[in-house]
Amino acid sequence: MADSRLALHAQGKVYIDEVFDAVAAVGQAKAKYGQENVVDATIGSLCDEDEKLVLLPTVEKVFRGLGNNDINAYSNSRGLPEYHSAAITQTFGDNKPEAYIEAVATPGGSGAVHNLIWNYANIGDAVLTHDWYWQPYSVLCSDSLHRLETFSFFDEQLQFNIKSFEKKVYELLAKQETLVVILNTPNHNPTGYTLTDAEWDQVLLTINQCAKGNKTITLLVDIAYIDYLAEPNKGRKFMKKFSSLSKNVFTAFSFSMSKGFTLYGQRMGALIGVSQDKNAIEEFVNATNITCRSRWSNLSRAAMTTMIGIYKDQTLLDQVGRERYQYVEIMRQRAKVFVQEAKDANLKILPYCGGFFITVPATDPVATSNRLRQSNIYVVPVANGMRIAVCAVPTKKMYGFAGKVAEALANS
Ligand SMILES: Cc1ncc(COP(=O)(O)O)c(C=O)c1O
Repeated sequence: MADSRLALHAQGKVYIDEVFDAVAAVGQAKAKYGQENVVDATIGSLCDEDEKLVLLPTVEKVFRGLGNNDINAYSNSRGLPEYHSAAITQTFGDNKPEAYIEAVATPGGSGAVHNLIWNYANIGDAVLTHDWYWQPYSVLCSDSLHRLETFSFFDEQLQFNIKSFEKKVYELLAKQETLVVILNTPNHNPTGYTLTDAEWDQVLLTINQCAKGNKTITLLVDIAYIDYLAEPNKGRKFMKKFSSLSKNVFTAFSFSMSKGFTLYGQRMGALIGVSQDKNAIEEFVNATNITCRSRWSNLSRAAMTTMIGIYKDQTLLDQVGRERYQYVEIMRQRAKVFVQEAKDANLKILPYCGGFFITVPATDPVATSNRLRQSNIYVVPVANGMRIAVCAVPTKKMYGFAGKVAEALANS
C-alpha cells in the first residue's frame, strides 16, 4: 500500500502555526501568575487598556440589531451589491482611482488573497512579496500550487529596498509570463511600515516598465490595517496613482472587516479589482465569482448587512470612525513608549509608522523570546525577529518592555 492516501498534490502538508506556541505559553503564564503580572504581546487583535478584545460599540449595536433575514438568508456568491459599494468607498475614501473598479465579497482578507492568487498566478509560478511578511502568504501560495518568493523589504539603512524589488521583478519575469506581487501597506504586518508616496512612484515605475509585450503583472495591495492610519486621507493618496497604469498591469486590493470593523470572527472581506481596461474588469468579476461559488458558496450575510447598515447612515459611519480613532491614538501612545525606550536602550527596531505590530530583528528569535518569558513577557518569534503586538498591550505595560527586550537579546 502507498504511504499516503492523499492525492499527490496534497501529500506532506503540515501546518506550523508560528503564533500557537506563544499563545499556549502565555495562557499558562496568566493562569499561574495572574494576568496583571504577564505582558501578552502575542495577540493579533485590538485590545483595550483593560486587555479586553475590542468590538467597536457602534458596529456591535448595528450587528446585534439585525433581523432574522439579514442574519440567516443566503447571500449570492459574489456578495451583496450594496456591500460591494460600501467596501469600495471604505477602501478608497476620497482617493478613488479613475479606472473600472469592481468587488467580490470574500471570507476576510485571507479569502481575497487566496482568490487573487488562484486566478492571477499560473500554477507552479512564483508569487513575490517582501521578506518580512504575514506568514499565511506562504501556505496561501503553496496550497494553491504556487510558491512564494521574496525581495528584501529594507536596505542596510532600513529604507524601502527598491533595488531588491526591481531585481526580483526582472528576475522572475525573465522566467515566467506573468507575476503576482503582494505588497502589504499601510501599517504592514509585522513591522508597521508604510510605503511613502515617493516609494510608490518607484514601485509603479518598475511595474509599468516590466509589464510589457507578453509580460503581465498583477499587483495585490493588502490593506488589512489601513483603517488605523493616523491621517486616513493622506495615507490613501497613493491610490490615485492607479489611474494611469499600463494595460499589462492589473491591480487589486484585499479589503477586510476584521481589523477596521473589529469583526474578525465574522470572516468578511472583499477583493477589489482596478483596471483601465473594461474587459479586464469583466474577466476579473467572472473568474473570482466562480472561485467564491466553488470554495465557500456564499458568505456571512450578517457581516455584510452590518456594513451596509453603517454605510446607510452617515451618523453611524462617523461614529464608527470616531470610536476607531480612539484606538489609533491608544496604539500610537503605546508604540511611542516602546520606540522611545528602544532608542534609549540602543535596541534596533524595524521602521514603525503605525498599526498593530512592531518588529525587533533578532538572529535567534526563538531563544530571545524564550529568554523574555523568564520576565513573563510573551512575544511571537517570526522568521528573523520578534513581533510585538502593540494592538494588545496596555500602555502601562509598555514601560520597561523595550529595555527587557534589549537585555534578552544581549543574553541569548
Ligand atoms: C497582513 C494581513 N493580511 C491579511 C489578513 C487577513 O485577515 P482576515 O482574513 O481576518 O481579514 C491579516 C490578518 O491578520 C493580515 O495580518
